[in-house]
This record gives sequence, C-alpha cells and structure tokens, in this order.
Amino acid sequence: MDVGYTADQLRAAAVDAVRAPSLHNTQPWRLRLRDGGIEVLADPARRLPATDPSGWGVRIACGAALFNLRMALAAAGTPAQVRLRPDPAEPDLLARLVPDVPRRPTPAEQSLHAAIPRRFSNRLPFWPDPVPADVRWRLGEAARAEQCWLELVIGVSAVTAFGEIARSAHRVLERDPAYLAEREAWLRREPAPDGVPVRAGGPQGEPQDVLPTRGFGGRDRAPGRDFEPEPLVGVLGTAGNTAVDQVIAGQAMQRLLLTATDAGLSVSMLSQPIEVPTAREQLRLSLGRIGTPQMVLRIGYGQPGRPTPRRSVDEVLDLPVVQA
Ligand SMILES: Cc1cc2nc3c(=O)[nH]c(=O)nc-3n(C[C@H](O)[C@H](O)[C@H](O)COP(=O)(O)O)c2cc1C
Repeated sequence: MDVGYTADQLRAAAVDAVRAPSLHNTQPWRLRLRDGGIEVLADPARRLPATDPSGWGVRIACGAALFNLRMALAAAGTPAQVRLRPDPAEPDLLARLVPDVPRRPTPAEQSLHAAIPRRFSNRLPFWPDPVPADVRWRLGEAARAEQCWLELVIGVSAVTAFGEIARSAHRVLERDPAYLAEREAWLRREPAPDGVPVRAGGPQGEPQDVLPTRGFGGRDRAPGRDFEPEPLVGVLGTAGNTAVDQVIAGQAMQRLLLTATDAGLSVSMLSQPIEVPTAREQLRLSLGRIGTPQMVLRIGYGQPGRPTPRRSVDEVLDLPVVQA
C-alpha cells in the first residue's frame, strides 16, 4: 500500500501546477515533498510589495496552482486529500496534499485537466457574441463547487457602474510610482521565463473603454478596434477574507478559468478594483453580497492566442535529498 506521493509523481503534477496564472506572471509558489505529502508554499521573494502588500495575490496564485495540482493528481488516478494552512507555525505553507484512495478520474476532472495547457489570459477585444445562459450557469457552478460565489454583472447600466469603480481604482494605482515601477519591472520585451511578454499585454487602453486595461506596453489600437461594448464581467467572492479564504478563491478562480477554456471561452483578469481597498468595498456594496470580492474576470469569445512562459519545474521543486 502506498504511503505517500513520490518525487516522480510530484514532478509530473508540477508541470501542470506552474501553468497557473499569477500577478504579472511572478509565479510566487514553491512545491515541496515532505513525508510523502506534496506541499504548496508561498514564495515571499516573489510577492510584489507595492501591488500586493498583503500577499492576497500570492495566495490567489498559489490557490490556482493548488487546483491544477489536484486535477493533475486526480487525472493520474492518485487523487489527493487537501489540508489548507496545516501548520500555523509556518504561514507560508498554504496546503498539504496526501494521497486519497486511488480511483479513476471523473469526466469533469479529465476535461478540467486537459484545459490546463490551453488556458491563457486573453487581453484582446472579444467578439460581441453573448455567452449563452447554460454556459453562464456552468461558470457559477464552478465557483460554487469550490465554496465561492460568482456574481455576473449583466446589462449596460450594471457594467457601466462596475466600469466606473474599476477605472477609478485604476487611476488610484496609476498615481503610485512604486506600482508603476513594478509593472515596468515585470514587463518582458525579450524572451524570459517569467513576467508578462509584451505580445501578451493586450492593446493600450483608450478613453472610451468601459473597463480599464493594466497597460503592459501593448500597441496602440487601430481605429475601430474597440473592446466589446457589453463585456461579460464576473466577480468571484468568498464568505470571509482570511488567508485560507484567499487560497480557496484561487482554487475557485482556476476551476472557473478551466471551465471557461473547456467551453471555448476566453478570459482576462482585472484586479484593480480588488487591489484598492475603497474600490473593493464599493464593489462589495454594489453587488449586495455578503462576503468579499476576490477577483474580477472578463469573459467572452476571443481570438486564438498562446500561453505565456513559465520557469522550469526544477526551480520550484524542493525534494528530499536521497542518501547514496
Ligand atoms: C491575482 C491576480 C491578479 C491579476 N490581475 C490582472 C490584471 O489586473 N490585469 C491583467 O491584465 N492580468 C491580470 N492577471 C493575469 C496575470 O497577469 C497572468 O496570469 C500572468 O501574466 C500569466 O499569464 P497567463 O494568465 O496567460 O498564464 C492577474 C492574475 C492574478 C493571479
């Protein structure tokens, strides 16, 4: 009987884990094998001090990596039991996975796992076609399956009101030189294993845009290349706002992103209204929801694109030294 995961199992699953999204593609995670358990740790050296002072973004990204790990292990027939923040003495240790009873993967696990390498942030304008009701329902189910809620902002006036909150948060951030310096520092004009490649950065924002764009050095837009007039905006939220809630939100976000990818949808993330506390509170009040908004997603039918680079798996693994 297996007592724990092996280094080979971790190495194989880690390839999927590191495909998770992260703020400015900082990839702020480490994966450790300890006593047969796979552990997901925050990497504090990769936190963005100005953009992410509380570590919220690190925990969302690590939660997303954790979800990918869960799907990879399940797809391999070795599903995990997960404990979040198992050791209060080690706050960077966000999750510990130990083997559950081996079984065949469910069809949902198989399709979510298959979507991992196809997912990427699509910052280009989407087609105006609406997302059908049954697909919207699937997205809500993805959030609920991970103990979160998803509020879809529907209709011109609701989207316009949300856009005002998001753009005012964007303006607050753009006035902060430390925030701007971090964005510039993680923008990649040459091939690199982390950071946001200019080609993935999307077009520059323009005054008529309903939603703000983060401005990763993209090109000016040709006339008429506007964003979709009525974007589908989803706000993902949790009941509380502890470190554990944020790891839960990261898992729900990734389930939602993979569900969307599986349904042929594109998604981009916009977290300015989450990063500015007053905007986050305004957003919470505008939704009338109990709990805390953790991430905002723009969802629609996009043009094809390709995934962004990652560091090699060896850089994030921490394996026990094998005695000769
Ligand atoms: C917590 C968090 C916040 C993010 N906020 C934004 C954002 O405001 N604007 C944006 O364009 N992308 C945002 N992203 C997307 C990341 O930039 C993206 O995941 C990263 O560059 C890797 O690219 P990929 O998603 O294509 O794999 C965010 C991602 C995370 C996890």
